[in-house]
Amino acid sequence: MSTSALRYAESNRDRFLHDLETLLRIPSISTLPEHKGDMERAAVCLRERLAHIGLRTELVEGDGHPLVLAEWLETGDAPTLLLYGHYDVQPVDPLDLWETAPFEPTIRNGNVYARGASDDKGQVMTLVAAAESLLKTEGRLPINIKFLIEGEEEAGGNVIDAYVAGHGGDIKADAAQVADTSMFAPGIPALETGLRGNVYTEVFVRGASHDLHSGLYGGVAPNPLNALSHIIAGLKDPYGVITIPGFYDDVCMPEEAVLDDWRSLPFDERQFQRDMGASALVGEPGYTALERTWARPTLDVHGIVGGFTGSGGKTVIPATASAKISMRIVPRQNASHIFELFTQRVLDLVPPGVDVKVDLLHSGEAVSVPPDSNFLKAAALALEDTFGRPPVLTHSGGSIPIVGTFKDRLGLDSILMGWGLPDDNLHAPNEKFSIDNFSKGINATIRFWDRLSAAQ
Ligand code: BES
Ligand code: MN
Ligand code: MN
Repeated sequence: MSTSALRYAESNRDRFLHDLETLLRIPSISTLPEHKGDMERAAVCLRERLAHIGLRTELVEGDGHPLVLAEWLETGDAPTLLLYGHYDVQPVDPLDLWETAPFEPTIRNGNVYARGASDDKGQVMTLVAAAESLLKTEGRLPINIKFLIEGEEEAGGNVIDAYVAGHGGDIKADAAQVADTSMFAPGIPALETGLRGNVYTEVFVRGASHDLHSGLYGGVAPNPLNALSHIIAGLKDPYGVITIPGFYDDVCMPEEAVLDDWRSLPFDERQFQRDMGASALVGEPGYTALERTWARPTLDVHGIVGGFTGSGGKTVIPATASAKISMRIVPRQNASHIFELFTQRVLDLVPPGVDVKVDLLHSGEAVSVPPDSNFLKAAALALEDTFGRPPVLTHSGGSIPIVGTFKDRLGLDSILMGWGLPDDNLHAPNEKFSIDNFSKGINATIRFWDRLSAAQ
């Protein structure tokens, strides 16, 4: 057991936090073109950190934001882990709801607040700090590691896809470790054995060639916003059941024993609802809230653009309207087939007088992890050593597109072991990351790698 590495991690805790804060100050928002330079700066910052601790590093540039690679492969026939995370972050709007500025990391109540703190820079830095702690104290690592840290996870970009497709042969690993998920609750670590996939679309509607006075033309002019509303209303019923023909055909639910395990988790639906700040939980009847988020597919509208939204009234019939709509999919559903069914349904719902176009922005398949692998067992023991209790096996409703690709392209299963908390405000104002979980994540990662080498 690498006691000296664990001690090093303990005594360097403030400096690790400082390194994280340096990365958090770079506004690496991958979806906004004006942050292109910040993406490059964040990639270089990470690369320099990884080089500084003794790894061989490389930046892979492609049609998008750079991919940061780093490796240390000197431990002979010990297992090789692919270490995955992302340095890109989500946009910060609405800015006025942040208590402190999103790119000025601030410590409050044992948390660091900043965009990307939990998703995913804080988690990436647990991997970097674990590697540093081992290399600085023992001069070597118990296993071989290869970092793949992308800058397009939130943007559905393809630099990492292209790299995996073109360099599959170079990525000789035995499993992937993904630091981009959450614990079940404070003090309760989790290993996720399932993630939902997603299919993200945009629907464009055009009516007349230009905006029209709704008094002079109302009654004869096609209205793209009305048409779009009609289409959206035809995708899902008021109870949350998706009304796209064939949508549920391939859905495969977890076994009854797994669902039983979920029922025994300490989860209070009422409390979940109250924390959400909504007056009720909605969704498919006949399923628990955990089943609905972890194992059932769903469909959500994320934004609608069109017409007049300023103050006061403007009697206009807009010429165009559009909506962003995505579906979360589950094992056995196939992203491109679901996109076809979606497109067909949208086109079937188009009322007279408008033209509709459906685009696929990006997609990723659902993920299932075998619950009995040696890697998962080693991770579970490491978590128990760190947290003083074994992890719960859960799923998550979120998506990490490349994890499905690791499995389909490289045959790699992933260990989904993350340090976020359910209330970390991912993608929302006041994102935070627990500093205690940051330290425990480093500790558990060192123990995990140790256990993998001992299992040889
Ligand atoms: N890290 C999240 C996904 C996540 C969060 C998984 C918590 C498990 C627990 C990831 O960064 C994310 O937000 N993914 C996007 C993917 C999309 C943009 C392609 C998502 O799920 O919406
Ligand atoms: Mn993430
Ligand atoms: Mn995210």
